Amino acid sequence: MRILVVSDIHANWAALAAINEPHDLCLCLGDLVDYGPDPFECVHWAMKHATYAIRGNHDHGVAQGVPVVGDKGYRYLTRVSRPLMWQALGAEERRYLLQLPLTQRFVVDGKRFLLVHGTPRDPLDEYLMKEPEIWARRVRESEADIVCVGHSHVQFNLNAGSTVILNPGSVGQPRDGDPRAAYAIIDGSKIELKRVEYPIEDAIARMEASALPDLAKQILAYSLRHGRLPNVAASELDLP
Ligand SMILES: [Fe+2]
Repeated sequence: MRILVVSDIHANWAALAAINEPHDLCLCLGDLVDYGPDPFECVHWAMKHATYAIRGNHDHGVAQGVPVVGDKGYRYLTRVSRPLMWQALGAEERRYLLQLPLTQRFVVDGKRFLLVHGTPRDPLDEYLMKEPEIWARRVRESEADIVCVGHSHVQFNLNAGSTVILNPGSVGQPRDGDPRAAYAIIDGSKIELKRVEYPIEDAIARMEASALPDLAKQILAYSLRHGRLPNVAASELDLP
């Protein structure tokens, strides 16, 4: 059984379309929307292709009609891109985002999977990088063999006792300094963290043609080209 794992697509269709992997199942770990120019295509891809999908904090905000405040970092980018999501998505796509569960559990080949966007303690919002000791506490009661997570936009896998924690990274907005689209393949007991080049300039051209303010276009273009935001203090990132 070959499983494709994607997360944090963030309306970047050019990145998502570049992933070309044969697979039997597809897991989608949330944040289909905000930031990027093509939410409609990305939501419809998930509707059609994701065997199991969960809700990210951005899916939640768009589906629930949550306005964002903030004038710096990711919160600024979310605030200015969210109205464009509402314009691009109709009732069908909003309903899809709204019905996405916060967690999913299932068994494949005898392995118990738990999907959650953030962490089991705080499915939508807790950011946790590759912190083995903290993850061990978070998954201690998870009763899962593989916990698949997203949200940090940083790719990793690690072992916490008998539980594997897998973050496939971000398809549409990597934040680890590598601009290529990130995803993962689970094949039996093997986990591969993968990257694929995609036409970044096409995504930027789509964004340039959008109604985003010029400042947001500049920041997002830098982010897509460099796989991170321009150099700013961590306190300035203002993660939403
Ligand atoms: Fe995200």
